[in-house]
Amino acid sequence: MSNLKDKVVLITGSSKGIGADMAKAFAAVGAKVVINYASSETAAQAVLTDIEAQGGQAVIVKADVSKEAEVGALFDQALQTYGRIDVLVNNAGVFDTCAIKDSKEAEFDRQFNINVKGTFFTLKEAATKLADGGSVINFSSSTTKVMFPGYGIYSASKAAVEQMSRVFSKEVGRGISVNSIAPGPTNTELFLTGKSEETLARLAASNAFNRIAEPEDITRLGLFLASDDAKWISGQTIAANGAMA
Ligand SMILES: NC(=O)c1ccc[n+]([C@@H]2O[C@H](COP(=O)([O-])OP(=O)(O)OC[C@H]3O[C@@H](n4cnc5c(N)ncnc54)[C@H](OP(=O)(O)O)[C@@H]3O)[C@@H](O)[C@H]2O)c1
Repeated sequence: MSNLKDKVVLITGSSKGIGADMAKAFAAVGAKVVINYASSETAAQAVLTDIEAQGGQAVIVKADVSKEAEVGALFDQALQTYGRIDVLVNNAGVFDTCAIKDSKEAEFDRQFNINVKGTFFTLKEAATKLADGGSVINFSSSTTKVMFPGYGIYSASKAAVEQMSRVFSKEVGRGISVNSIAPGPTNTELFLTGKSEETLARLAASNAFNRIAEPEDITRLGLFLASDDAKWISGQTIAANGAMA
């Protein structure tokens, strides 16, 4: 992906999991990366140290994506540091499983505030602050296509992200492409937390490759969607799930 060299890539929630893997991968192909976190400062610092050890360029900006003022400051700090933002990866997200009848309002609010409102705030900023010809990559989930009990609130939040993404792809203009990635089960803290060996084996068996994805399985799609090769792809949700759904 040589055309990513010197592009400025802002990745929300890149202290851990898929976002951290993407930060390292974009830096490895010569992009300048804005690492964002909300609470995991040590993990964000480890991502930066790793990138710099490989000769890459990155900066860390703390911001909670569910807070509008912090998202504005995140974009402004990225612009002050690198002068432009070419790619926005809206990766920050949270997940909880609970049957709808047992779910509390606070858990609904947490998932919608971070997953949906967080995407809304960053898209508002991107509308004026992303460079012409840039790319936006939002994060949905393959759970929008399956009816897993316990995933009602999370899947609803990701369905909202998908639809906002499709509409934004036609609103934004200026040659900016906008897509969503919908991963299947992927080996990260978000996915592994609270799951038994039996559940993990059942989910691994739900795709055609009989394994849980690794973050790099998702990162490769992110690199492609951010590249000039993917310019004609916009307004789409692209699943990376090994034929799970
Ligand atoms: N893993 C999967 O199986 C899977 C499947 C489908 C979709 N996804 C989606 O993929 C994306 C990445 O998930 P992951 O599995 O890599 O999760 P993860 O390992 O739990 O990492 C989540 C990242 O989001 C950040 N974050 C959380 N709340 C934030 C906030 N309010 N503001 C800014 N950053 C925040 C976290 O940073 P802090 O700790 O600093 O808050 C962390 O860096 C999410 O959108 C998730 O819904 C994941």
